[in-house]
Amino acid sequence: MSSTNKGPLPHIVLLSCGGTIAALPSHGVDYKAGLLPPDRLLDAVPDIGSSVHVTVERHADVGSQDVDLEIWNSLAARVRRLNADPSVDGIVVTHGTDTLEETAFFLHLVTQLDKPVVLTGAMRPAHALSADGPANLQAAICLAKSPSAKAIGVAVVMNDVVYDAVELQKISANALEAFSSRNHGPLARMLGGNIAFNYTPSIADRWKGSFADLTLDAWPKVPILYIHAGMDTDWVDALLATDPDGIVVAGVGSGNAPSAVWRRLEAAAARGLLVVRSSRCATGFVDGGVEVDDEAYGFFAAGGLSPQKARILLMCALRRDNSPESLRALF
Ligand code: SIN
Repeated sequence: MSSTNKGPLPHIVLLSCGGTIAALPSHGVDYKAGLLPPDRLLDAVPDIGSSVHVTVERHADVGSQDVDLEIWNSLAARVRRLNADPSVDGIVVTHGTDTLEETAFFLHLVTQLDKPVVLTGAMRPAHALSADGPANLQAAICLAKSPSAKAIGVAVVMNDVVYDAVELQKISANALEAFSSRNHGPLARMLGGNIAFNYTPSIADRWKGSFADLTLDAWPKVPILYIHAGMDTDWVDALLATDPDGIVVAGVGSGNAPSAVWRRLEAAAARGLLVVRSSRCATGFVDGGVEVDDEAYGFFAAGGLSPQKARILLMCALRRDNSPESLRALF
């Protein structure tokens, strides 16, 4: 994209991964993710070329339910290379919203950044009346080129609200206000292309780059066990029979489960299975030893992490140091 501005323009690289932001109608379905060519994503953002130079790269064109390890590893590798490239000022990733929080958290763990990486998406497809993709993309580019966002690391902007990778979670399947920040509120708000921080990015720095340069060669087997009233231990036995590397429990309330379930998991933990307790609630914390004696059972508590993020942290830990001491420090 060219410009007539004085002086060099900030250079942003846009990596497009598909999702609703790039969705168009397709045979028989209202829309299909990732059909819009990446260059056309930018066409919908008027005048962006007067303030920034954007290079567009197609990285993947999937609905984010199909984002897999290959996409994660190649995206992390590309982000690391762009971070090291002095000609690049910031990186924007367009992505489906369904697993946006998981990709953001993975990148947060496995990259060490000195420039912003801003993910965004859309709740309405590109052809919809009042599609939200163009405004989200514009906000993401503004954030990625902003000098005050240099230390932000991996962030997500949706609907003018900026979220950090640790706290972000999707809370609505349909609403434009689809995201929330699990426990601490959003990081910032975009106001006409400027950032108004609510708190300093350093608060969102936990685990940042903790697994820098890690590539997961295969998915560690870490299922999420979703707890509900009247839970039958047959399901727990079936899961344990698959020989997982670890289990994240999406427990009720502050990470609890029926006693019979704990008995099964306690026995499995004694045999070396890593069990992390998290909560199926939309907000809140699971602290160790409050309702469940984690020390005695050999469990770990996920703190403020959602089950899906506790799973990613555990997967990364399984590929590095998964001694009980280091896991306790990590969680
Ligand atoms: C997806 O996650 O790819 C579909 C839903 C969306 O992008 O909003």
